[in-house]
Amino acid sequence: MGLGSVDFDYLRNLVRTHTAIVIDDGKEYLAEARLSPLLRKEGFSSVPELLQSMRVKSFSPLHRRVLDAMTNNETWFFRDLVPFEALRRKVIPEVIQTRGLSRRLNIWSAASSSGQEAYSTLILLHDNFPELNHWQVSILATDYSQAMVDRVKVGRYSQLEVNRGLPITALAKHFVQHGLEWEIAPRFRNMVDCRLMNLAETWPEFPEPDIIFLRNVLIYFDVQTKADILARVHRRLRPDGYLFLGGAETTMGLSDAFERVPFEKTAYYRPKGVNHVS
Ligand SMILES: C[S@@+](CC[C@H](N)C(=O)[O-])C[C@H]1O[C@@H](n2cnc3c(N)ncnc32)[C@H](O)[C@@H]1O
Repeated sequence: MGLGSVDFDYLRNLVRTHTAIVIDDGKEYLAEARLSPLLRKEGFSSVPELLQSMRVKSFSPLHRRVLDAMTNNETWFFRDLVPFEALRRKVIPEVIQTRGLSRRLNIWSAASSSGQEAYSTLILLHDNFPELNHWQVSILATDYSQAMVDRVKVGRYSQLEVNRGLPITALAKHFVQHGLEWEIAPRFRNMVDCRLMNLAETWPEFPEPDIIFLRNVLIYFDVQTKADILARVHRRLRPDGYLFLGGAETTMGLSDAFERVPFEKTAYYRPKGVNHVS
């Protein structure tokens, strides 16, 4: 049985209300594909049966699991490469210069998915900037999905996942094999503070980030939500901090508070109005 309009509209309203993710018309197939893997575990024989049962109940852990399953968690190590080159060649050398006294570096991977972005960053710092071994470096990794937050905490990846973007030398140096999986060294795991966080709701307090990764998540939201999130990012980011967005994302038309810093074929962003070292 396919997904009818009542079930589909119920699902996309639920998703938009709780996560701000917009599901366009005609994406019934996407909903079916995302929810089918849940059916057996949750004791349902079809997606319509699952949704019908949810519709008559108030919000429950099942609703939360369904919302988790509706998120797109696509990510990989050193995704898009150029942002990590910008980090290595420009951003971190500048940070070392400007934060030499406090020796603190706070990074926030907002919408971290399963953690490859956070761990790629830590590997890059470790392998290129030995002076940071004497700094207090921490990464806050947050995501809407509990399943993803749990994965970041564990730091284990399948062979397929480590094959995506992770140089073989980094795999050999920083991961230990456990059966069919690879686990990141505890040194890195202990530097990551993993938390559940919904970007569309009130944000908790956390240390002021020097660098924010907000990559490949704004694309799922409407214009108002994107603008609201960028305004809040601007308030949280250090005035001389750095913001990385995804390759298809921009602040243009959403916020005037950031200056675009071109780097190779891409760019990163900095709060306007401060004399930066660069
Ligand atoms: C495509 S992944 C991007 C992962 C990583 N930033 C990257 O660029 O590779 C998008 C992530 O955003 C998360 N997400 C979606 N809506 C969210 C929300 N309202 N608040 C926090 N995270 C959200 C999803 O759970 C998913 O893990």
